Amino acid sequence: MGLAWPTCASAHCLCLVSTLSLILLVSCTSSSMSSKPPDIASKKSGHLKMDQALLLIHNELPYEKFIVYWRSDQCYQCLYQTLVVSDLRLERRSDIAVVDTRHPVTLQINATSGNTELCRIHYRFREFGNYSLWLKANHSSTRDITCEIIINQNPGYTNLPIIIAFFIYVAIFIVLFLGSFLLRLDTVQNWLCKQINPVETDRLINSELGSPSRADLSSQDAHYASWNTASQRLRSLDTFRGLSLIIMVFVNYGGGGYWFFKHQSWNGLTIADLVFPWFVFIMGTSIHLSLISMLRKGNSRWKLFWKVLWRSIQLFLIGLFVINENYCHGPLSWSDIRIMGVLQRLSITYLIVSVLELLFTKPLPDPMPQNRACFFLQDVIPFWPQWLIILALESVWLCLTFLLPVPGCPTGYLGPGGIGDFGKYSNCTGGAAGYIDRIVLGEDHVYQHPSSNVVYKSTVPYDPEGILGTINSVIMAFFGLQAGKILVFYKNQHKQVLVRFFTWSVFMGVISAILTKCSTNEGFIPVNKNLWSISYVTTLSCFAFFLLMLIYFLVDVKRVWMGGPFFYPGMNSILVYVGHEVFENYFPFKWKMQDSQSHAQHLTQNLVATSIWVVIAYILYRKKIFWKI
Ligand SMILES: *[C@@H]1O[C@H](CO)[C@@H](O)[C@H](O)[C@H]1NC(C)=O
Ligand SMILES: *[C@@H]1O[C@H](CO)[C@@H](O)[C@H](O)[C@H]1NC(C)=O
Repeated sequence: MGLAWPTCASAHCLCLVSTLSLILLVSCTSSSMSSKPPDIASKKSGHLKMDQALLLIHNELPYEKFIVYWRSDQCYQCLYQTLVVSDLRLERRSDIAVVDTRHPVTLQINATSGNTELCRIHYRFREFGNYSLWLKANHSSTRDITCEIIINQNPGYTNLPIIIAFFIYVAIFIVLFLGSFLLRLDTVQNWLCKQINPVETDRLINSELGSPSRADLSSQDAHYASWNTASQRLRSLDTFRGLSLIIMVFVNYGGGGYWFFKHQSWNGLTIADLVFPWFVFIMGTSIHLSLISMLRKGNSRWKLFWKVLWRSIQLFLIGLFVINENYCHGPLSWSDIRIMGVLQRLSITYLIVSVLELLFTKPLPDPMPQNRACFFLQDVIPFWPQWLIILALESVWLCLTFLLPVPGCPTGYLGPGGIGDFGKYSNCTGGAAGYIDRIVLGEDHVYQHPSSNVVYKSTVPYDPEGILGTINSVIMAFFGLQAGKILVFYKNQHKQVLVRFFTWSVFMGVISAILTKCSTNEGFIPVNKNLWSISYVTTLSCFAFFLLMLIYFLVDVKRVWMGGPFFYPGMNSILVYVGHEVFENYFPFKWKMQDSQSHAQHLTQNLVATSIWVVIAYILYRKKIFWKI
């Protein structure tokens, strides 16, 4: 969140209230138009949907009746699902089925009599392909069955649109970069000045190419320098925040319909799973920088606490009322309003971490003895009370997760329920985390479409932003806070900062490797976005420290990159986040596609929408308009 401190005049608050009510109105009218996601498992052939292929099943088996089952590789320890029931008594020699193309699948063919397995085949289907499965019996023995897959029509190359989009963006950046570079050369500038009048040149430089002129640049630098001394605001933090935010917007808009731009069904990571924790992380970093600078300016802790509390409440209310879809379904929707959510979780995390910081942080560090033994822990030891509380919180998470008895489910269950774990615990989605939310908040008040219901066919509601996971989100923000402490502690010692970031990254990586045993599903605690498991937090902190190190090096140390285009949305994160949710269904963020099952068209739409938010953020930045709460 934009964690520069607000100047809350009463006019400001009035403005906020009116903006909120306007947004509420818009979001209610817009969300009624939103469409449901396509049903992947649709068996109506004819028109294939995204990520599907056609499979014709030809059988020459001497069995009257057999069943083709399927299972996705993505589905860990899953029950096989029925694909087709073939019945020769219906005078059919072939059947048509629709198969999933996102991951390799295993097909298993069973005879109905005795449910004996006849054969099994592992295959990676490609989107919109046309395949045949041939089932043949060997003449010598009826038990000896061969199954074979033949490609009738070659499928298209699904990921081509991503590659094209990538090159288009690279081209745009090269043009912008060269353009701004050329325009800064004196000879070109002089030549241009002769061609057109100077005012026009200035306009060209400023607006057309979107890059600041030299005069602007130096004033910006001065501005930036004053920030650094005044409130420790670093460009790299806004860049990192903007990067997460932009990926988040793209992912929320659908990510081109590609599975790796959507949330993972249960354990493991996709690109979509990376960004929320990074956002939380960078929030932690900003909390430390801003609170310490406020304290150094002589603000009392109580005053800061009230500010923090007020901001948390605002954030929570925006999340509850503005972005909540359920709220708009009608007057009765209070009975099924979703209580938790992304902003709500950010709000609670912000409150807890800020209070932790206000309780224990010292505006000026104690003089440390240059003791060899604690040299490596210089940025940890002075904060030991915070660490104790964090460890206590983590113990609470571990105890509740692994020891809380959940009726009808094994204690310490971490799975997705549904058809996972061979269907034994189908109503246990999320174990203790899911149970706590359903008891405390109520079934109707949690998220109804968790990502586990696609692959694992889970049916119970489960909230990926639930109560228990909030503990680990606090831990994530605390690691971000640690990054902030490093930045303050080693102020202007760039090398030290980079070394510390790298060390923390490695440390987090080692912990994650141990917790997960370097595997997706088999570890002690698997990486899981839905649970916000502790290994998810450490893994994402590992990435975050590393990425922050890179960005810090490029943007704040070497200054070879100004942080664009991510810097601008990073400066206006609340506005971009709320805006992208509220205007999701409006042109130019969404339009009617000619072919709603085409990745290329979805990708185009989602990228255009995301780019527009970057442009909006850029314009607002130039006009110095920031929405801060
Ligand atoms: C798939 O291929 C088969 C065999 O080549 C053909 O008969 C059928 O019409 C094709 N189906 C579609 C939808 O293209
Ligand atoms: C799971 O819940 C559904 C609906 O509440 C119920 O019909 C089903 O019997 C439950 N399954 C198990 C294994 O408890």
